[in-house]
Amino acid sequence: MGEALEGLKRNIMCGELRESHIGTKFTVMGWVQRKRNLGGLLFIDLRDRTGILQVVFGEAINNEAFIKADNVKPEFCIAVTGELVHRESVNPNMPTGMVELKGESIKILSESETPPIYIKEDLDAAENIRLKYRYLDLRRPDMQNIFMIRHKTAKAIRDFLDDNGFLEVETPMLTKSTPEGARDYLVPSRNYPGMFYALPQSPQLFKQLLMVSGFDRYFQIVKCFRDEDLRANRQPEFTQVDIELSFVEQDDVIELNEKLVSHVFKSVLNKEIKTPFKRMTYKDAMDKYGSDKPDLRFGMEIKNISSDVLNCGFKVFTDAINNGGSVRAITVKSGASMGRKDIDRLGEFVKTYKAKGLAWIACKEEEIKSPIAKFLTEAEMNNIIKSSEAEVGDLILIVADKNSVVLQSLGALRLEIAKKQEILKGNDEFNFVWITEFPLLEYDEEEGRYFAAHHPFTAPMDEDISYLESEPGRVRAKAYDMVLNGEELGGGSIRIHDTALQEKMFSVLGFSNESAWERFGFLLEAFKFGPPPHGGLAFGFDRMIMFLAGTDNIKDVIAFPKNQNAFCYLTDAPNIVDEKQLNELGISINVKNKK
Ligand code: AMO
Ligand code: AMP
Repeated sequence: MGEALEGLKRNIMCGELRESHIGTKFTVMGWVQRKRNLGGLLFIDLRDRTGILQVVFGEAINNEAFIKADNVKPEFCIAVTGELVHRESVNPNMPTGMVELKGESIKILSESETPPIYIKEDLDAAENIRLKYRYLDLRRPDMQNIFMIRHKTAKAIRDFLDDNGFLEVETPMLTKSTPEGARDYLVPSRNYPGMFYALPQSPQLFKQLLMVSGFDRYFQIVKCFRDEDLRANRQPEFTQVDIELSFVEQDDVIELNEKLVSHVFKSVLNKEIKTPFKRMTYKDAMDKYGSDKPDLRFGMEIKNISSDVLNCGFKVFTDAINNGGSVRAITVKSGASMGRKDIDRLGEFVKTYKAKGLAWIACKEEEIKSPIAKFLTEAEMNNIIKSSEAEVGDLILIVADKNSVVLQSLGALRLEIAKKQEILKGNDEFNFVWITEFPLLEYDEEEGRYFAAHHPFTAPMDEDISYLESEPGRVRAKAYDMVLNGEELGGGSIRIHDTALQEKMFSVLGFSNESAWERFGFLLEAFKFGPPPHGGLAFGFDRMIMFLAGTDNIKDVIAFPKNQNAFCYLTDAPNIVDEKQLNELGISINVKNKK
């Protein structure tokens, strides 16, 4: 049973009380973290969003309050009024550790059952329990801190963009499929039975329409929906900071967004982020790091050793090269002492990236050890060591295959070794890089056609337009990703605003004129009416918060996230709906329910 407030007002937050407040009477309200009864004295740690305050009750202070306070249990919601005094045994580890509130009266506003999870900072309750009782999980100070960071970040972004002439405009949630490449979440229409809206994968086409409208500079902090396989840093509904500008080129978008990010890190973490950021072409990123989101906090770059082994006696190497592939290596500093078992494990690791094997050369003090030494002349061995920039004590790891396999497997191996060797332990650097000159199109072997690597409205680089029809695979895009410590924080492009070029793009993608109009007709129609040159970018807002809050789990930064199978433990969504609702929508279900 809970008591009513009956006019009682809170006049300060628990975490705000300091020695300067001593001698004044306050009313605080919050949740009981813990209670200790020491006989004639009873202590309650009272918690609200701002922190914890010690409250003391005693027979000598107020006996009635003392007796009532003895009834409270953890997570009861209470109000306490009393004078702030010096604390007898101070706690220098608590911001409020010099003071305590003398409990002169107490109201039990509501009682709590024993919570299924313990509300404290380092909690390792099972994830499904945390998600089912998310509102309790969110009572934890470290979770509340994350949402304060999230709020601050959104505010810093809005302030910066407002200062730079941007308008925040909302775009529809019930819309038509947008071409972002993932599966759509569909919403059935009651007015048009058998027809569906799609939830937006991003506001891409609407923001381009706003440019046609002359809004000039648009942004939106907006929910996006993608029905894709979920990994640690993906959620089915997530938030973008979506940005679009008119009358700009790639450098303008890049400059603005690095200033934005720098402003955010300064406002939220008081961290200076130097601009301009590094830039690297997609090709360089793939060649050196085997990834279009390279982690530049450490070296271990991939080296091409094909020319060193071109005529060697190891058929695996020469075949790879002769078939258009390559032989490449990474060098693990001080890795020569690695045991056979560990090296074999790395061999298994690269196999998950389709590599057929992992050759190695251990440059030991006494000798060079390698299972492929027998296939190599001394000169060839020396050349490999030289090209790999290996020194005495280092280990060279080599993959031979077609280029995509070599680069992907060595890129992943590089990260795996960094993780195993804890190369980044204690590293608190924020290493930003722009990846540019992405391929415009990607060839899909299965479908036997090209797909837009970003989306079909991304502009090709001017110098490559002439290859659009003859050599589509070689055309680079005016597209850019902002990468931070090996994660894609955001990405965007300059858009095509010329109808003839757009039509050419559709034809390269294999869309007939009709099918292009059927899907994107509203945009093509709009582009008949003087579209300005424009471009933009979208950040993964949740990913940004992950960095700012120092967590590697996207669920930590979303108040009510879904689990890895897009299921909500809190509400039990998705769920079965009434027959009546289905009938109104003209839908009949012909699958067995899995849940
Ligand atoms: P893109 O598809 O690259 O671009 O998405 C932009 C950013 O959104 C984040 N992101 C996600 N975050 C969490 N969960 C997900 N499932 C998820 N998917 C994407 C990433 C990514 O960098 N319309 C274009 C932008 C543009 O061209 O302006 C777009 O959506 O951090
Ligand atoms: P083998 O003579 O078949 O035992 O191979 C000698 C070494 O070459 C082993 O360490 C294999 O893991 C390695 N190896 C096999 N195939 C490849 C490949 N495609 N790329 C790199 N190394 C390979």
